[in-house]
Amino acid sequence: MTHSEDHIAGLDLTDQAALGSGASFWTTKTIGTVPAIMLTDGPHGVRHQTGSATDHLGISGSEPATCFPPAVGLSQTWDPALVERIGQALGDESRALGVQVLLGPGVNIKRDPRCGRNFEYYSEDPLLSGALGAAWVRGVQSRGVGSSLKHFAANNAEHDRMRASSDVDLRTLREIYLRSFEIVVRQAGPWTVMCSYNRINGVYAAENAWLLTTVLRDEWGFDGVVVSDWGAVADRPTAVAAGLDLEMPTTGGISDAEVVRAVDAGTLDAAAVTRAAARVAGLAHRVTQTGTSATSFDIDAHHELAREAARRAIVLLKNDDDLLPLAPSPLAVIGGFAQEPRYQGGGSSHVNPTRLDIPLDEIGRLAGDHAVSYCPGTDTTAAAAAAESAETAIVFLGLTAEEESEGYDREHIDLPATQLDLLRAVVDVQPRTVVVLSHGGVVRLDAVADLAPAVLDGALLGQAGGGALADVLFGIANPSGRLAETVPLRLQDCPAYLNFPSESGHTVYGERMFVGYRWYDSREMPVTFPFGHGLSYTRFGYSDLELTTTGAGVAVRVTVTNTGDRPGREVVQAYAGLPGSRVGRPARWLAGFASATVEPGHRQTVEIPIDRTDLAYWSTDAGRWVVEAGEYAVSVGASSRDIRLTATVTLDGDEPTRPFTRESTLGELLADPVAAQTLLTVLGSASPFGATDSALGSNLLRMLESVPIGRVVGFSAGKVTREQLDELLASVNAQRS
Ligand code: BGC
Repeated sequence: MTHSEDHIAGLDLTDQAALGSGASFWTTKTIGTVPAIMLTDGPHGVRHQTGSATDHLGISGSEPATCFPPAVGLSQTWDPALVERIGQALGDESRALGVQVLLGPGVNIKRDPRCGRNFEYYSEDPLLSGALGAAWVRGVQSRGVGSSLKHFAANNAEHDRMRASSDVDLRTLREIYLRSFEIVVRQAGPWTVMCSYNRINGVYAAENAWLLTTVLRDEWGFDGVVVSDWGAVADRPTAVAAGLDLEMPTTGGISDAEVVRAVDAGTLDAAAVTRAAARVAGLAHRVTQTGTSATSFDIDAHHELAREAARRAIVLLKNDDDLLPLAPSPLAVIGGFAQEPRYQGGGSSHVNPTRLDIPLDEIGRLAGDHAVSYCPGTDTTAAAAAAESAETAIVFLGLTAEEESEGYDREHIDLPATQLDLLRAVVDVQPRTVVVLSHGGVVRLDAVADLAPAVLDGALLGQAGGGALADVLFGIANPSGRLAETVPLRLQDCPAYLNFPSESGHTVYGERMFVGYRWYDSREMPVTFPFGHGLSYTRFGYSDLELTTTGAGVAVRVTVTNTGDRPGREVVQAYAGLPGSRVGRPARWLAGFASATVEPGHRQTVEIPIDRTDLAYWSTDAGRWVVEAGEYAVSVGASSRDIRLTATVTLDGDEPTRPFTRESTLGELLADPVAAQTLLTVLGSASPFGATDSALGSNLLRMLESVPIGRVVGFSAGKVTREQLDELLASVNAQRS
């Protein structure tokens, strides 16, 4: 990125301040030689508003653009290469529509299923979110269009989103809530990052110097523009000092004047304003000088890509007795979503699609000459009658647009009771019943899974979802989608159940890093469908797991064999664990993944590189990632609960050696071989507690292990002096260094 101050040479303080806020709802200002640019939502389509009605809530219209599957669907592909291709298409559409920065991707972690905006985020897991977000950024930016990684950071609820403080301990922040952002910044270099509305540990993201400067720029090397979420800036001078470059949308010049006044008053460093202006100018030059000048995009090709992605996003949750795929036969299609599909979420990401596939029409096309009856499902008797006279019933269930959206959270995760009643009535008369689900946030599925022999999870599939669903139902596509989020048995089981949403302006992240499957698996809780789950119309066997240490981490190799009778794609997940870790850790965590497309009867070796950082924990003492020395278990499998093979690998650690002090405990000293040896020699001759050698049994040691060694002086009543202890510690420290 060119940050050269040349771009702003000759601009005075007033002009520099003016560059740091919008000219309109979606554009920056033209000042001197710095061109204006247009920023637009994002993330799963280009929401380009041209008229005078502009908004950040998806209320007013926008120009037609391809509506690709929203993040909730896209994440279920577990396919970064596909996401990158979608990014390229989005970049092309942005160019054609005159947009220079596309506001996405959203990589916030799905902390609780009630968050109204979960449909716009990828996963409960930071590695998966980061890998997909990085692919999206690479794709978009390959077309000379900037991306805006959002919403930085810890923005995991909609309730009171513009004020509430996410109160998160540092280790959890680093390992979960910042990690997805870190991966994208380090791997893909987004040209902008959007700071979120909320506070983090009491400080607004927009005013958070630690977040925007220390972590983002100094540690991760971000060299782009920090833009505010729309209306996120409460105090622009404080925000500029913290590292905010661009406030959006326009404030009509009010906050520009505040910045100038703050510099004049000596409360804001002029250099901070110059730095921000230079970054905005650098971005404006970059996005206007690169990329194509196309004025149209290939609507058909992009629709086809949207269909390919939607196919890959569909998860086959259940398929008793191989009910699916269907042969062309008489069908009863039931439920309003078959005719009016729910395919995207509400709010700023809402796209005006170029076209829309209707599931009912697409199913009809593939049913051949057989009758396809349709009932909206409002009349249960009529639906049951139609189901009974068909060979198979396909029931569309899910959440309506009103039930979930940006701007508010859900209060429960249940499907409407009327839908479950409808399903019961249909299943009573038609054992061959397939459920198709549409929803942005996770819904409770225990009743559905009990009732229906086959369940397809469509989440939100974008404008081509209708055709994709028909392709999967009839076996034109073999499903390979995987859940990116656990489906819990009930809301009460969720890790943040008692700490969601905020209370008195604070959200306490009490579950710490035990989010999603990290929680359910560590507590060995039953779930309806685990993280990473998804069936196929074929079967896969796993063999020959091999782990090799490399400088960068661990290389995993495993062979996957297609033991079924049709080609299929298997998403192989590698989970790591460290039994006996000295710090609290989940039972297992996702450390890598890859996929293999294999012909029936064939096998393929899958390679999954695991980065050392993905085996580390964040040490708040050391202020960095730390790998504990030890024997790590690496398991490969088809979900976090369907582990097929496990092997171990021994890693050298890089834990810092901290000198022992009087505050070090007996336990800490005894855990160190050098200190233990010295200590036991000394204690052997003069026990400070008056205990005999033989009384120093393991139980007594355990009782004493939390005693700071400095207190021994008092306990020993003169047998060990402070000077002797200091000498002993100095000698131990000298031997260890
Ligand atoms: C959303 C952002 C969006 C912006 C502009 C905000 O309300 O949080 O994600 O990019 O509006 O529409």
